[in-house]
Amino acid sequence: MQLYDAIHARRTIHTYADAPLPDGAFERIIEAAHQAPNHKLTWPWRFTRIGPETRRGTLLPLGIRLKAPAGRKPSPKLVEKITEKLMHPAELVVVSVVRCDDPFRAREDYAATACAIQNLQLAATAEGVGAKWSSGGLTTHPETYAAVGIDPAVEEIVAFIWIGVPDKVPSIKRPPVEAVLRSVP
Ligand SMILES: Cc1cc2nc3c(=O)[nH]c(=O)nc-3n(C[C@H](O)[C@H](O)[C@H](O)COP(=O)(O)O)c2cc1C
Repeated sequence: MQLYDAIHARRTIHTYADAPLPDGAFERIIEAAHQAPNHKLTWPWRFTRIGPETRRGTLLPLGIRLKAPAGRKPSPKLVEKITEKLMHPAELVVVSVVRCDDPFRAREDYAATACAIQNLQLAATAEGVGAKWSSGGLTTHPETYAAVGIDPAVEEIVAFIWIGVPDKVPSIKRPPVEAVLRSVP
């Protein structure tokens, strides 16, 4: 797939078929993410591939608990919705950035990590699969750090990236480029 085609075809995928990625796609996607630019060659991104045991055994119950109305048992519909969301995509990658005391460098490292995530999403599109950048409450919950083995004193979780075979590819209407482009002589 040509780069422009991938850029234009990429959509945030919210619903996934319960199906695996093509052979070798995961490794190629992460390798593409790792090609992102980064100032001072700090290589600030970390990718943690989350296996099904952690997804089902820890993240799923936590996700249900966070969405259930306070003090009430979660409805079967809610459990089904969250199970589909957390278990259908073939892969879950937690993307984190190595913390740094210098605020300017920390900002640049976060920007570089966002570049890596976009590379990842474009590579997924080129592989014929889809991805979603998720930054909801589950992604940065203290119990999530513990579940995925990331020390919050050392790294900050930036995103959950879901990767999988799209069930539905949404369409989204963007404002015309004239709304965001200006020129000065
Ligand atoms: C920093 C960031 C955080 C995001 N967090 C979420 C999220 O928590 N949940 C979600 O559904 N989409 C999330 N998205 C995806 C956006 O909703 C999506 O990019 C937007 O709707 C535009 O759609 P598109 O990606 O198909 O162009 C996030 C995107 C970015 C860049």
